[in-house]
Amino acid sequence: MKQSEHPVSQTYAKYINPSFIQLLGVLGYGRVFVRASDVWLWDSEGRRYLDCLAGFGSVNLGHNHPALIARLHQLLDEQVLHFCHTGPAAGAAALAEALAKRLAAPLEMSLFASSGAEAVEAGLKLARAATGRSDFVSCDGGFHGTTLGTLSVMGAERLRQPFEPLLAGCHRVPFGDLDALDRALKAHKPAAFLVEPLQAEGGVILPPPGYLRAAQELCRARGTLLVLDEIQTGLGRTGTLFAHEAEGFVPDVLCLAKALSGGLAAMSVAVTSRALFDKAYGGAGRFDLHSSTYQGNAFACAAALRTLELIDEEDLVARSARQGARLLDGLRARLRGHPLVKEVRGRGLLVGIEFGPTGSSWLGKLAPSLVDKVSEGMFGQWVAVRLLEAGILAQPASSRWNVLRLEPPLTISDEDIDTVVDAVGAILDDYRSIAPIVADVTRRAGAQWRGGWQY
Ligand SMILES: Cc1ncc(COP(=O)(O)O)c(C=O)c1O
Repeated sequence: MKQSEHPVSQTYAKYINPSFIQLLGVLGYGRVFVRASDVWLWDSEGRRYLDCLAGFGSVNLGHNHPALIARLHQLLDEQVLHFCHTGPAAGAAALAEALAKRLAAPLEMSLFASSGAEAVEAGLKLARAATGRSDFVSCDGGFHGTTLGTLSVMGAERLRQPFEPLLAGCHRVPFGDLDALDRALKAHKPAAFLVEPLQAEGGVILPPPGYLRAAQELCRARGTLLVLDEIQTGLGRTGTLFAHEAEGFVPDVLCLAKALSGGLAAMSVAVTSRALFDKAYGGAGRFDLHSSTYQGNAFACAAALRTLELIDEEDLVARSARQGARLLDGLRARLRGHPLVKEVRGRGLLVGIEFGPTGSSWLGKLAPSLVDKVSEGMFGQWVAVRLLEAGILAQPASSRWNVLRLEPPLTISDEDIDTVVDAVGAILDDYRSIAPIVADVTRRAGAQWRGGWQY
C-alpha cells in the first residue's frame, strides 16, 4: 500500500492537517511510523529506521524505555489521585525536590506545566511579576514555542508574522552579541532576557565562549532576569545534565520540557529561586496567579521522576558527551574538505552539519549566494530524504534548512554512530557540487508530480 493511502495518513489529512500530509509527499518523507523501541523506529511496511531526531530532543532515554514503562504501569495500578488541586500533590513535591537536588542553588522552586511553550510563558510571567517591568529581550534565531506569548519572543519571522501584533515591548538582539544585549538592556530595562544556551532550531548555533556568563552579569547589573530555555538542550542532551553547567553560571529561571518525562508524558517546568518566587507569587493574594489544570499531575510527575533516575542509573550524561564526541569527530574527519560542507558543529548529541559555499568549491567562490540559496532551499532537506531512504531519520533545523541536525537518543551505540557517519559521508560523496543535487531533486519532484504526489 502507498503510504499516502494508509488509513492514518488519510484520516490525519481529513481531520487534522491536509497540507502537512501533502508536504510529506512533496518533500519525500512519506512514512507512517507505527512502532518505536530505543533508537529504532518501524514504519507500516516493516522498514526499520535509526532515529536521529528523537522527537526533537524529547526521547533522550530512547523510545519506550522498559523501566519507565514499568514505573508507569505500577503507578496506574496504584490508583493514586491524579489531580490534587485542593491539597499538596505527592508526585509534584517529589519531582520538585529531585530537580532542586540536581540544580545549583538558588534554583529550587518549580512551576510545572505541560508544554515547553508553557514553561517559557511561566518564566516570562514570573519575570514580569517579580520585577514589575514589562519588556522582554530575546535573540534572533531563538525558538521558544508557538503560543502568543512565546511567539512574541520568537526569532523566526515566518512563524511570527501571521499572528502580529503580538506582545508589545519585545526586542531582539543577535545571539552571541554582548554589546547589542547591553544596549538593549539599557534602552528597554526589560523584565527578562530569554535565551537558549545553544540554538537548536536556529541551526545548532553555539555562542562565543563566556557569552552566557557575561550576559548574566550584564542582566544582574541592569536588574533584568536571565530566563534560560533548556527545553531542547537539557537532561543530558549536550553532554552535561544541563547545558548551562558547562558555561559556569546559574540562570534566574530555567525552563525544561521535552526529555523531562522520558518522551512518555507532557511535562514541563520553570525552576527559579525562592526569592524570585516569593516576589512573584508569595502571599495569599498571589499564590494562585499562575496555574494550569494538568500541572504536576501524577502520571507526568512519575514519568519525570523515573526519567531523572534513569539518566543517573544509566550514566546517560557521560554517554552523551562520549557519543557526541564520536559523532562530531567522525563527521569532521569524514567530511573534511567537502566543497559544500561549511561546518560540522555541536555539543554532546546535538550536532549540526551546515551546508553552503566554501573556499574549496569553484562555484562557491564564483557565486556564493547561488550555492547558499540551493543549500537553504533544498540541500538539507534532500540529504535528510536520502538518509531516510538509507534507514536513518534526521531533519534540518526548523529555521535553517541548510543545517542538518543530528540528535539521536543518548543511548545510541558506537556502531550506530559509525553507521550514521558512513551514511552521511556516502550521500555527500554524491554531491560535491550543486548540479547533481538540483538534477536529483528535479528528477524526483518530476516523478512525484507525475504520480499525483502519492507516495
Ligand atoms: C528551545 C525550545 N524552546 C521551546 C520549545 C517549545 O516547546 P513545546 O513545543 O513543547 O511547546 C521548543 C520546541 O521545539 C524548543 O526547542
